[in-house]
Amino acid sequence: MAQLAIQIIPAEVLRQKAHPIVTVDKRIAKFMEDMAETMYKGNGIGLAANQVGALDRVITVDVSDSRDGSEVYLMGNPEVVWSDPIETFTYSEGCLSIPGHYAKVTRPRRIRVSYLDQAGKKRELEAEDLFSQCIQHEIDHLNGVLFIDHLSKLKRDMILRKIEKAIIDEDSAHIL
Ligand code: NI
Repeated sequence: MAQLAIQIIPAEVLRQKAHPIVTVDKRIAKFMEDMAETMYKGNGIGLAANQVGALDRVITVDVSDSRDGSEVYLMGNPEVVWSDPIETFTYSEGCLSIPGHYAKVTRPRRIRVSYLDQAGKKRELEAEDLFSQCIQHEIDHLNGVLFIDHLSKLKRDMILRKIEKAIIDEDSAHIL
């Protein structure tokens, strides 16, 4: 396995739409494992292909306590086929591509998702609460959407200004 480099906002690839994979071939199966390793190393509970600079519709998710790989979900072409129309769930989300920033995001509490597993088999699962929240966050990534897009403009702009300032501070530190 290999650890992949995480793309940080404002990387263009985070705003691009990932393409469906045709099949889970050897390359994609290996990519799924590399993504999982990268997710664990970054202490993330989920990761999407865009975040490592690739535009294949692949996500990895592990919301378990053990985080030893025994409960990891490696998903190709994940798609929400049903979402709870009534109940919502709110969780303070963070993102490996937006380090240091967290904000409460409200999403449907339950979803049903179809996907291809690492063997290329089509599967469906139901998820709720944090598991559901995480999958929705990762599928958003595949569509070029970030969790800050779910916030009010005021909150989003506040986070973006802080990021911009941090980048300027970092740049000017090299000019000395
Ligand atoms: Ni994220």
